[in-house]
Amino acid sequence: MRKIAVVFHSANGTTRQLAEAVAAGVEEVAGAEVIQTEITAADISAGRFYNDSFLTLLDNADAIIFGSPTYMGSVSAQFKAFADASSERWEAQLWRNKLAAGFTIGSNLNGDQLATLQYMQILASQHGMLWIGLDLPGNSGAKGLNRLGAQSGVIAQAERADLCDSDLLTARYLGLRVARLSITFTS
Ligand SMILES: Cc1cc2nc3c(=O)[nH]c(=O)nc-3n(C[C@H](O)[C@H](O)[C@H](O)COP(=O)(O)O)c2cc1C
Repeated sequence: MRKIAVVFHSANGTTRQLAEAVAAGVEEVAGAEVIQTEITAADISAGRFYNDSFLTLLDNADAIIFGSPTYMGSVSAQFKAFADASSERWEAQLWRNKLAAGFTIGSNLNGDQLATLQYMQILASQHGMLWIGLDLPGNSGAKGLNRLGAQSGVIAQAERADLCDSDLLTARYLGLRVARLSITFTS
């Protein structure tokens, strides 16, 4: 059974909705299971993330899908605290060759969400992980997927709690894609 971890931070629930959609996509794939790991305030003290059992769950995953709201053109401080704590794993490259992917949301149509995904890509590269983007070209919006056209990962946008169906379907697709590829690459 391939283990696909979905690691995310969400303050107001929109990133959590995306995380649930990603998890649903993973669960569609026979032979893959989801590990949902939410970064919460309880794990952060004086700005540092402390939760070793959380990180150990990730050590045992075949793929890690990162999720964060876009805050001021990057990941949230809570997500960054988690990323900084993952440096303990970086030194020994414990996460090398795991698959990685990402999703984010902002309230603006072009609120610099791509920079958030690019931060996640760099984090994955630091760990020696293999980044999986979307194989959804520009005409996919017509099929209800990837309305904003990003291929580095899922970019979503919502002014309030109601997410577009296209964004949720694209998040679900990302989960499905990573789960399928984790079986292809590791069997
Ligand atoms: C401190 C802060 C900074 C934000 N910066 C951005 C931004 O740079 N671009 C953007 O499009 N939205 C920005 N937003 C809006 C959030 O990304 C948006 O509300 C998102 O849906 C929040 O995710 P959550 O519901 O999972 O907490 C910001 C919100 C906050 C609170």
